[in-house]
Amino acid sequence: MNTSYDIIVIGSGPGGYVAAIRSAQLGYKVAIIEKYATLGGTCTNVGCIPAKALLDSSEQFHQASASFSVQGIEIPAPMLNFEQFIKRKTEVVRQNTAGLIYLMKKNKIDVYQGWGSFIDNTHIKVKGEQETILEAKQVIIATGSKPATIPGVVIDKTRIITSTEALSLSTLPKSMVIIGGGVIGVELASVYARIGTTVTIIEYTDSLIATMDRELGKTLNKTLNKIGITSLLSCKVQRAENKGETAVVSYLDSEGKERELAAELCVVAVGRKAYTEGLNLEAVGIVAEKNGKIPVNEQLRTTAPNIYAIGDVIAGAMLAHKAEDEGTFVAEVINGQKPHIKYQLIPGVVYTWPEVASVGSTEEELKAQGIEYRSGKFPYSASARARASMDTDGFVKVLIEPKYGEVLGVHLIGPRAADVIAQAVLAMEYEVTAEDMYRISYAHPTYSEALKDAYLIAAGQGAINI
Ligand code: FAD
Ligand code: NAI
Repeated sequence: MNTSYDIIVIGSGPGGYVAAIRSAQLGYKVAIIEKYATLGGTCTNVGCIPAKALLDSSEQFHQASASFSVQGIEIPAPMLNFEQFIKRKTEVVRQNTAGLIYLMKKNKIDVYQGWGSFIDNTHIKVKGEQETILEAKQVIIATGSKPATIPGVVIDKTRIITSTEALSLSTLPKSMVIIGGGVIGVELASVYARIGTTVTIIEYTDSLIATMDRELGKTLNKTLNKIGITSLLSCKVQRAENKGETAVVSYLDSEGKERELAAELCVVAVGRKAYTEGLNLEAVGIVAEKNGKIPVNEQLRTTAPNIYAIGDVIAGAMLAHKAEDEGTFVAEVINGQKPHIKYQLIPGVVYTWPEVASVGSTEEELKAQGIEYRSGKFPYSASARARASMDTDGFVKVLIEPKYGEVLGVHLIGPRAADVIAQAVLAMEYEVTAEDMYRISYAHPTYSEALKDAYLIAAGQGAINI
């Protein structure tokens, strides 16, 4: 094999595989290096995809137990086959990683399995079963992130685990303490609480999903309580210990009192850190920031002129679609095009039920920046579509600029919010007004219709639909 390439991508997550495919589409000779046996990175193997598979299965189990009889569907109490529950998730992951092999072949991208490290700016060593030296004109670093922990909490992968282990358990735990009420915390709490585990979340701030609009966290907390999840807010975990049969978590409660909680498993979900180990960045003069992230300029170029970095390993939201957008961006920059990414318009989604989705500024951000706004809020309890599906928890909130009605932020908690948010992203990308948004036709009855009412209310008119 000729080992000289136009572009070499290190890491095959959503950043890396999209960068490789877009580069190949633009006519470059491309190679991708992945240290794991399968392609797809965190998202495909131990992140977005397996988490969504378990979230879907657990929600169906919960509906069968909790709401079928209300709908006149009488079945014996459903039983969970946990082995099959996990097996289906594994099969979903397999289908997606197989899809990526197909895409690499289709786009004539050479895949090297092994650890990539820099020799110099244009040479990369791949240490797999054998050692190979590759040459590249341009290199894209897409090495992603790994779970982080906090002082006093050592992840032993038996009693004290991360999301990676929590997505592949061999038995259903009776109880689980989750450290961190961020995105991973609330998604995993939902999976296990729905299938019978007693789940407690211990969160340092005074809200779940605290980086999103605060009203979302409040409503989410109420709906998670309904399925038996306890959230201990304003509580700081100090230690977790493996005591053999249980993990014991010590924390300071909201009044500063030291408390302990024992559970079969402790899941650490306190954020993720950029991953650059073993890359030998020294060889190319790249110095990672204090938090481990690789510094890049607005073209996502590192301090080395032919080396770019994208995804979780650089600053910004740690999201698969952000990494994907950057993958396309970098390939097009190398190609001499002028692509753009509006980071403010990258939506954030939490796949609980109801789902949570957000784009643009939160009310808290607008207040802090002294920006005037009007808010329009419509509850799903007033939506005919939501009543039909018994999904009446949650609301839609739009924030608009008062004079011209430009949309500044959209925040949803409700059924299928993850899909509904796409139209808000479009509205904001093309700077259409609240009036434009309420004058277009929305199919009735739909979940997205709630947005029409929220725009109407924000614009000073009353709601029109049910
Ligand atoms: P990664 O996906 O982390 O991929 C990096 C790859 O590089 C890995 O395969 C790694 O093995 C490889 N690598 C590292 N170093 C080397 C080296 N030296 N040589 C060769 N290979 C190397 N985001 C969403 O947008 N939606 C979600 O629903 C979602 N759910 C998530 C659920 C969980 C449980 C977790 C943990 C994360 C979730 N995320 C989600 C976040 C998402 O997974 C990440 O933002 C995304 O995977 C980042 O993509 P990336 O390409 O930057 O890196
Ligand atoms: P996170 O940053 O979302 O949440 C971590 C939480 O842990 C914070 O709320 C923080 O206050 C809390 N915490 C920190 N120290 C603590 C302590 N000592 N005691 C108690 N609580 C403490 O990180 P998370 O949930 O680990 O997710 C990591 C990344 O993965 C996120 O950046 C997210 O973007 C991504 N992800 C995205 C998903 C999605 O898009 N649906 C799903 C899952 C993960």
